Amino acid sequence: MTAAYPNLRLRRTRSAGWSRALYRETVLTPADLIWPLFVTDGSGVEEPIGSLPGVSRWSVDGIAKRAKEALDLGVPCLALFPNTPRTLRSDDGGEALNPDNLMCRAIKAIKDAVGSDIGVLTDVALDPYTSHGQDGLIDGQGYVTNDDTVAVLVDQAINQAEAGADIIAPSDMMDGRVRAIRMALEMGGHHNVQIMAYAAKYASAFYGPFRDAVGSGGLLKGDKKSYQMDPGNAEEALREVALDLAEGADSVMVKPGLPYLDIVRRVKERFEVPVFAYQVSGEYAMIEAAAAAGAGDRDALVLETLTAFKRAGCSGVLTYHAAHAARLLGA
Ligand code: PBG
Repeated sequence: MTAAYPNLRLRRTRSAGWSRALYRETVLTPADLIWPLFVTDGSGVEEPIGSLPGVSRWSVDGIAKRAKEALDLGVPCLALFPNTPRTLRSDDGGEALNPDNLMCRAIKAIKDAVGSDIGVLTDVALDPYTSHGQDGLIDGQGYVTNDDTVAVLVDQAINQAEAGADIIAPSDMMDGRVRAIRMALEMGGHHNVQIMAYAAKYASAFYGPFRDAVGSGGLLKGDKKSYQMDPGNAEEALREVALDLAEGADSVMVKPGLPYLDIVRRVKERFEVPVFAYQVSGEYAMIEAAAAAGAGDRDALVLETLTAFKRAGCSGVLTYHAAHAARLLGA
């Protein structure tokens, strides 16, 4: 190579800003971002989350304001997670089916504020509603049962769709839930409600701050390894994705994000479908901690990591930095 092309200098196209812009293969835009928001009870409430510096829980009125902010910034979609009041949490997570729960009220407030100009993605799993912090129903041994849980998740998904959710995102990792939810959505006339399956979701140590944010961390007994994937597995991720697509998922997600970019790439190459990644709470916290320690420039770290997701093959990224990144990109 070097011998055959003695004048080949890859640095030539990097020598000026205009040229780097011209040759850039991957370009990040605000439209690539999904902004996760935490909903809390009350009105006029903002509760900062200690382990997620810069992120707060908002009461429903605040969520509506964030939706307007997203619209102004060009961020197309919001993801909602409720911090259900402790008194409404139960063994069976029944509050997930309440048509007037925090999630449904937040969906409606967003639609009232911005109409159909912003998409709303809703999480299907029971952990923000159960008194034991698991994503599903547990038996006497604390084991999360599959088929009984799926039946409840279907009702939860329909409850969200009826409140106006645009994308149903099951994060529970039960087997067969995508098919069951798709069938129920069709039966209910929700033909255009999408499913983004958390297809390859790993049992990760990076979810800690999220569990603080939805108030499930202190309640959780045991771990989630009997349903979330083992971090050592990649072939199994491809099987999970194949199943969720066969069951009717419109898009698939890999979670966490940066430590699993190899999975994103393999899924994209194998299936050629829309792939999303979730830059999860622990990843966000790492960037914030690095910046606070003077170990890196916050804005540069944010934009570089988000660009890496797109370069790996993502159609979009769920990130707590969404609004900040959109502001940087718009500047
Ligand atoms: C649970 C759920 C989790 C996240 C999204 N949905 C945590 C868990 O599985 O315990 C994590 C997101 C994050 O860490 O930002 N259904």
